[in-house]
Amino acid sequence: VKSLAKRNVSLARPTGNAAVIGAGIMGGGIAYQSAVKHVPVVMKDINANAIQLGLNEASKLLQKQIERGRLTPEKMAQVLNSIQPTLNYDAIEMSDIVVEAVVENPKVKALVLADVEKHVSDNAVITSNTSTISINQLSLALKHPERFCGMHFFNPVHRMPLVEVIKSSVTSDETVATVVGYATQMGKTAIVVNDCPGFFVNRVLFPYFAGFCQLVADGADYTVIDKVMEKVFGWPMGPAYLLDVVGIDTAHHAQQVMAEGFPERMAVTYQDAIHKLFTASCFGQKTGSGFYSYSKDKRGKSV
Ligand code: NAI
Repeated sequence: VKSLAKRNVSLARPTGNAAVIGAGIMGGGIAYQSAVKHVPVVMKDINANAIQLGLNEASKLLQKQIERGRLTPEKMAQVLNSIQPTLNYDAIEMSDIVVEAVVENPKVKALVLADVEKHVSDNAVITSNTSTISINQLSLALKHPERFCGMHFFNPVHRMPLVEVIKSSVTSDETVATVVGYATQMGKTAIVVNDCPGFFVNRVLFPYFAGFCQLVADGADYTVIDKVMEKVFGWPMGPAYLLDVVGIDTAHHAQQVMAEGFPERMAVTYQDAIHKLFTASCFGQKTGSGFYSYSKDKRGKSV
């Protein structure tokens, strides 16, 4: 992990206009956070329903702020007006920075990144919110890979303070400084890391999950593990609950990437707790069932 040297901050280009490609859980959250922090944002998707869901989610979050007395209805309208929904690329031409947040599929991402590059100015910075795909690999899709890097937000975007800025071997210092600048404008704390499986957070987190799965395979009760980590060790959530929040499908995929990258640190077996839930399509909070059952996002009984 590299801290951003002060001298690099001066290299940052202004990011007065942003764009997000993909209006799903992450794209919608990134667009909301950008707009709330006064950076107008274009939100592009291929699916009109996804765009509407993204806008609805932003409205709900803003409505909560009004209920808490932190926002006026006029300000809410202003924020919503600064999110420009679109189904085509023309609207991103004025963007200083683009965050790609489409599905976690390297082929789709490569096509999207190449399309983005065709539509933005030469000075624009292009980023990907991928959680597992190599930034060096994605940068091959671009004619000017020096203006590209990873910009990895965490879910839910409006609450999670960290953003990982991931450099490829050719990302320029200007690009890194610009992305750190945009993250800061969004009220986030950026860390700059080199490209590797899991980047920083998942590289720390997944060996911990592997240890948890090993304990469960050895006969430990995951509800007890969660209780110990939460009530005694003092972490906000134990590993089983955290896996349900992250999504068992997402965790399963990241687990494979980490096991390929660091086999010596990942005691993964194809019979482990994550794999069993994955094959039963119990993806955690999002499907209402994982390690626990859920209604309205509240953790219920173990299943
Ligand atoms: P999602 O499935 O909620 O949203 C993906 C969106 O991309 C959908 O609305 C889909 O219509 C759209 N899309 C697909 N192809 C497109 C294209 N060619 N052009 C424009 N839009 C297109 O997925 P989610 O969870 O928001 O993930 C997006 C990215 O963020 C993935 O790379 C994922 O790995 C990453 N990520 C996800 C986190 C999470 O907790 N869900 C956390 C951090 C990163």
